[in-house]
Amino acid sequence: MVKKAVIPAAGLGTRFLPATKAQPKEMLPIIDTPSIQYVVQECVDSGIEDILIISGKGKRSIEDHFDRNFELEERIKADEDEVLYTQLRHIENMANIHFIRQKELNGLGDAIRYARYHCGNEPFAVLLGDTIIDSVIPATQQLIDTYEQYKQTIIAVEVVPKEKVSRYGITGGKKISDKLMQIDELVEKPEVDKAPSNLAIAGRYILTPEIFEALDKTSRGKGNEIQLTDALRLLLRHEDILAQTIEGKRYDIGNKLDFIKTTIDFALKRKEFSKPISAYLRNIVKDMDNKV
Ligand code: UTP
Repeated sequence: MVKKAVIPAAGLGTRFLPATKAQPKEMLPIIDTPSIQYVVQECVDSGIEDILIISGKGKRSIEDHFDRNFELEERIKADEDEVLYTQLRHIENMANIHFIRQKELNGLGDAIRYARYHCGNEPFAVLLGDTIIDSVIPATQQLIDTYEQYKQTIIAVEVVPKEKVSRYGITGGKKISDKLMQIDELVEKPEVDKAPSNLAIAGRYILTPEIFEALDKTSRGKGNEIQLTDALRLLLRHEDILAQTIEGKRYDIGNKLDFIKTTIDFALKRKEFSKPISAYLRNIVKDMDNKV
């Protein structure tokens, strides 16, 4: 059983400067909800209520967001806004959320190391705090279902255009079903002609405690950081690892263009915004067509 999740959220967010100079990218809202709340909701919807968030310098607002704000609640209660009041109470009661601070930003692999004592001897899910996956069955649930069957480390992957493989961690291996591949190769940001496939690591994992030993043996890689992908490659020498193509749409909100697209897609799905936003978008396109 996978009962714990780790959400690394300590990174600097340099791709989103200047917005992330004094606020965490994980708190950037999609419409009215911080990105990391969608990620926590995915854990909860996947049956996980014990969550460790890897936090760091300048990330206090994440802790505040999941804490109770009594004064604010009393004010909303006095205004008799039942819906908003319920929403606020929901956030503080979503899950048991623990925080640990990554002292130096030595990369995603280093961030995961901070989860060693929290996760102990159990398998755990990892969800990147800057990645939202919109899907019918929560992405983490999809991975847990496979874990229950295979009891192996699982990496969520998605198909990316061939010319973009150099931006991602790429997996290669042997297909064992429509959605599963037994991995035999893992490369961080390969050159286009050296990539073993166009299946990119998609920000969700089920890891076993063996990862911690692999991380201890992993030296600094790309960007002089401890890369999780490098530790997984070490693990691959002793263990089988699966790649699973996730059903759903992935949004990397740490990337400005993806952030804009996420906002538009999520607005189109919200009852109160869907009509006005689609009318607005249609008008923009019409104006552009008229100019051509
Ligand atoms: P990214 O590489 O996307 O985050 O890591 P970053 O370093 O903040 O981004 P840029 O490139 O500077 O814009 C993926 C996730 O891992 C966390 C990040 O917060 C993000 O949610 N992370 C990354 C850590 O927790 N610690 C690290 O040392 C690095």
